[in-house]
Amino acid sequence: MKIEQSISLKPYNTFGIHATASYFVSVSTIEELKQILSLKKYPKKLILGGGSNMLLTQNFEGLVIHVNLKGIEIVSEDENFVLVKAAAGENWHEFVMYCINNDFGGVENLSLIPGNVGTAPIQNIGAYGVELKDTFESCEAISVETQLLETFNKQDCHFDYRNSIFKNEAKGNYIITNVTFKLSKQNHKLHINYGTIASELEVMHIKNPTIQDISKAVISIRESKLPNPKVIGNSGSFFKNPVVSKTHYNKLLQNFEDMPSYPISGDDVKIPAGWLIEKAGFKGKRFGDYGVHKNQALVLVNYGNAKGSDILDLSQLIQKTIEQLFGIYIEAEVNIL
Ligand code: EPU
Repeated sequence: MKIEQSISLKPYNTFGIHATASYFVSVSTIEELKQILSLKKYPKKLILGGGSNMLLTQNFEGLVIHVNLKGIEIVSEDENFVLVKAAAGENWHEFVMYCINNDFGGVENLSLIPGNVGTAPIQNIGAYGVELKDTFESCEAISVETQLLETFNKQDCHFDYRNSIFKNEAKGNYIITNVTFKLSKQNHKLHINYGTIASELEVMHIKNPTIQDISKAVISIRESKLPNPKVIGNSGSFFKNPVVSKTHYNKLLQNFEDMPSYPISGDDVKIPAGWLIEKAGFKGKRFGDYGVHKNQALVLVNYGNAKGSDILDLSQLIQKTIEQLFGIYIEAEVNIL
């Protein structure tokens, strides 16, 4: 374990933003992690997983800890279910592929989401009708303060849409070291009702899909809509889909009769932020090295050498415009640092 100085974080964030970390260390064992956390010399620390959900707007004057814990193991299994434990530093999509290759069902709709296993619970990643919480069994996390390992079960995590305890009460207090998933071994519960999946399976001429087929369909949809961060820097959805009251939504329908919505519990509906941003005229807009993606307006992109502050300014302009046009505040999903 080597602590390096003045390291560019460009390779460590999917936006591909250059910012410098004063100190940087990559840890590959729990012991190393405990040791580094106990050092008093670096009071300011930033925990980095896959770097897929953050926008760096300035240099980080502290120690960046890159969590590089690896390993996937079966904890227990019976005829129907298997508990699989994956270390935090495993790449999320590679973990999904491990599940698909072993015919373990439950995470196939979450194929190709950038990031690592250990950061996936923080924002309860979700796509195409499935969220991480649906297969989450438990996770272990090290307390930054005590360096002790604690176990969190599903209830402890307070999962919600793109949210968990790790983004709220426990923010910055824990580093997730591994996650255990409960996956099906047979009679997989397939989620194909999300519109685009059903139509993609049709295009593929598949009537009785397997989890492999669903994964392929999801990969194909994502590749057609979402930019590959290795080619164009981005952080997936930059904003969350806002929740508004049905009353407000009905009022908006008078002026915007094609405004889509998803029903959620109670008196509220969720509106696709991508639709609002497109309606406001931002879709595909490019400002020098940064802009709004041409196929999915929720995604802000870095075409090369954009600064984090450029992207932040654009996001604020979008928020202001949406608020003026629709009276709706769209909250950023990514962490701004
Ligand atoms: N839409 C537009 N214009 C756009 C984009 C979307 O009009 O440019 C409207 C369309 O009406 C479309 C609807 O929004 O039918 C929904 O679009 P989509 O299916 O792409 O889903 P989304 O709500 O925009 C969410 C997630 C994505 C996830 C998809 C698929 C959030 C913030 N985003 O996007 O997650 O892949 O559903 O399940 O909830 C991510 O978090 O990084 C991410 C990509």
